[in-house]
Amino acid sequence: MTNSDAHPLVARLDALVSQAASAVAAAVDLDSLHAVEIELTGKRSVLVEAKKQLGGFDPDERREVGQRVNVVRSAVAELVESRRAELAAMERRRQLDADRLDLTEREPVRAGHLHLVTQARDHLEDVFVGMGFTVAEGPEVETDFYNFEALNLPASHPARGMWDTFYVELGEPGTVLLRTHTSPVQIRVMEATEPPIYSIMPGRVYRRDTADATHTPVFHQIEGLVIDKGISFADLAGTLDAFTRAYFGRQVQSRLRPSYFPFTEPSAEYDISCVFCGGAGCRSCGGTGWLELGGCGMVHPNVFAAVGYDPEVWTGFAFGFGIDRMTAQRSGVDDLRDLFTNDVRFLEQF
Ligand code: DAH
Repeated sequence: MTNSDAHPLVARLDALVSQAASAVAAAVDLDSLHAVEIELTGKRSVLVEAKKQLGGFDPDERREVGQRVNVVRSAVAELVESRRAELAAMERRRQLDADRLDLTEREPVRAGHLHLVTQARDHLEDVFVGMGFTVAEGPEVETDFYNFEALNLPASHPARGMWDTFYVELGEPGTVLLRTHTSPVQIRVMEATEPPIYSIMPGRVYRRDTADATHTPVFHQIEGLVIDKGISFADLAGTLDAFTRAYFGRQVQSRLRPSYFPFTEPSAEYDISCVFCGGAGCRSCGGTGWLELGGCGMVHPNVFAAVGYDPEVWTGFAFGFGIDRMTAQRSGVDDLRDLFTNDVRFLEQF
């Protein structure tokens, strides 16, 4: 071997390997690696320069330096290739991360809530249950007997005209109908239980009415029935007054006005002081200062007779209120139809 280590080119070539190692490692992406590669192996690189000079060397030197050039070139190429593979993998991973669909990330669930009328029904039930009442239900498709006859409304009674009835085509014509009020549930409860009775009966009712701001052909009522010994009209008035305060608030007054219903005697109309104007008179109460919520009265002896209760032993009162109107009044809804159009933008406000 000649003293080739002394040759300045060999020293530069050897130095190139460690320079290449740090330059390649410092390349942060494929573009900068490409620039480094040109610098290390391109036209102006030490490698190409050394190769050019080989022709001027003597044979030993030429072999010596020539071999070094080859070794260094393949070392550099190996460094560059392995870094290229590394950077390509990194870039691919970055791309995948950017494209990834995160399936754990989603819109927060938009939970709905109970319909305004259902909330009102639940609230009414809570108030009456708090006063010691139980809750009962009956069918929406009724017979003439429960909806009318047992409630002291025999066939062709003129007061039947108070309820525009939907009849169902079933059995004898005119015997099966959609209940026009929740009062038939009173009869069913009395048939099924022995007194005393303290019950409320909420539910859906139907009338052949044209829909307008204060009427809908399907609506909701809550019926009340109290049967015990020695029940008087004062108990009715006191119960309704307690209910009014519990449901509407202490500032609201109630009153009873004489009225007529076939199933009660005496009968009354139950009003509350207008929740909008406090009784002064406004558009919502028609200037009267009062809102009509429903009927009530002392259970008629003929109703007791229909279910076989002894009217000499038992007395009682009953009431029936429209839930939808009460709800509308409490929530400031001025058109009942809005409750049943089922426009979520309207319903979600309550
Ligand atoms: N059922 C009647 C109606 O729908 C309301 C009513 C009045 C119910 C008097 C009663 C009552 O229980 O005693 O118009």
